[in-house]
Amino acid sequence: ACSSGSGSSDGKKSDGKLTIGFAQVGAESGWRTANTKSIQDAAKKAGVTLKFSDAQQKQENQIKAIRSFIQQKVDVIAFSPVVESGWDTVLKEAKAAHIPVILTDRAVDSKDESLYVTFLGSDFVEEGKKAGDWLVKEYASGSGDVNIVQLEGTTGSAPANDRKAGFADAIKGDPKFKIVASQTGDFTRAKGKEVMQAFLKSQPKIDVLYAHNDDMALGAIQAIEEAGKKPGTDIKIVSVDGVKDAFTAMSQGKINFDVECNPLLGDQLMDLAKKVKAGESVPRRIQTEEGTFTPEQATAALPNRQY
Ligand code: AHR
Repeated sequence: ACSSGSGSSDGKKSDGKLTIGFAQVGAESGWRTANTKSIQDAAKKAGVTLKFSDAQQKQENQIKAIRSFIQQKVDVIAFSPVVESGWDTVLKEAKAAHIPVILTDRAVDSKDESLYVTFLGSDFVEEGKKAGDWLVKEYASGSGDVNIVQLEGTTGSAPANDRKAGFADAIKGDPKFKIVASQTGDFTRAKGKEVMQAFLKSQPKIDVLYAHNDDMALGAIQAIEEAGKKPGTDIKIVSVDGVKDAFTAMSQGKINFDVECNPLLGDQLMDLAKKVKAGESVPRRIQTEEGTFTPEQATAALPNRQY
């Protein structure tokens, strides 16, 4: 039987450059576009050869891309898993080929921790908690019901699961907070708008929209306006990401609070890949630091926001 060994014989590159295969989720949001650009720019700057694949939010495409990176004997595989489950088989194939795997942005739920070297990204549970904590403070003085609709991210994805759980945890202490409808908008503007239109039709009273990302919030804002209501006033909006378009909406009073999720992971990823390739040890978990924005803070940050 032939095994691929360390991948250093026939697949060896003559320029001695580090080659990373990166399997991206897709181009579903402004956040994702900024993340892709950060990774591509950082690779160029670091002199890394980047093989980039866009999975269009489909797990089977990501699995195919990872298999192709294994075949091409890249030095390191990095990817942002579209959903949490179902990765063990392909990650075992990478391990058998002695190609280290770095998770960026989203985690996998594999029990076998030897299937990847490290995970670089945000704490999504914490992000959901921050959104919920804001809501609790915002409605601290009232006692009437607060009807909430939730636009969830991609079903089965770590940010959708975790942002939902963190938010639920933050509001659970007070029964006046009621999530009256919750559905996926797949992290896109188009779906966010579509689902919000349905919520507006089916729900007699909506006080708050919690969107798992800014693009869905921005799509929902269109739906709310088309229904003759004022986003940010008639329906309060709390969202996650902190992209420029959301800051613009905040400066117009249309989003009330935004929890930051940092997409600029490129430089850290290149640094990690170089260390991993050199056999240096790296932390198992590297968490990005991020803040929150009120409309005033977003308006002030807007002129210098990069993405
Ligand atoms: O995994 C990060 C999430 O994915 C971002 O919040 C969202 O905008 C993106 O699509």
